[in-house]
Amino acid sequence: MKKLTVALLALSTLSGTAIAHDEGEFFMRVGTATVRPSEGSDNVLGMGGFNVNNNTQMGLTFTWMATENIGIELLAATPFRHKVGLGPTGDIATVRHLPPTLMAQWYFGDAGTKLRPYLGVGVNYTTFFDEKFNDTGKGAGLSNLSLKDSWGVAGQVGLDYMIDRDWLINMSVWYMDIDTDVKFKAGDQHYTINTRLDPWVFMFSAGYRF
Ligand code: NI
Repeated sequence: MKKLTVALLALSTLSGTAIAHDEGEFFMRVGTATVRPSEGSDNVLGMGGFNVNNNTQMGLTFTWMATENIGIELLAATPFRHKVGLGPTGDIATVRHLPPTLMAQWYFGDAGTKLRPYLGVGVNYTTFFDEKFNDTGKGAGLSNLSLKDSWGVAGQVGLDYMIDRDWLINMSVWYMDIDTDVKFKAGDQHYTINTRLDPWVFMFSAGYRF
């Protein structure tokens, strides 16, 4: 019995030494991610630039700590869906996209600190799919909508608050350089519109160390 108690004590001490942000630790955050485009585009058929609305989905980050200060993080999410419109017509289309992003991060403080602010810089790849004109767009003679995938730089600031060794809560803000070519047909004419999405992404999440 005594031996078992000692063994259990030793085990709990061992497993208790690691903290989410320790070197070699792996943790995951799950929460909401809101994409708020700061969009702009070339003039579309004399009706101004595209408008793109905000969208919120489930966001996930997977982080591996190379040291107690340097993290490598992958952002994933369920697909975002945005309405696209023009001033005079209102919404004319919907598009969906996935913006996986890989970041190198610097965490301030040390693994034992409860509050860990961090900065990150990395690369974003955004792939668009399910691009469709709605009835308004089709009624205006628009068809064959497609958006070109985008590669760009991403920046990030965030804050983890450690609840205990395994659990944390987080908020983070990202800026992603996402630019695309919007291609479509109006009647028989083909058009390509240079479009900038360059969104701010706001994430609120809970994290867990594995
Ligand atoms: Ni841009």
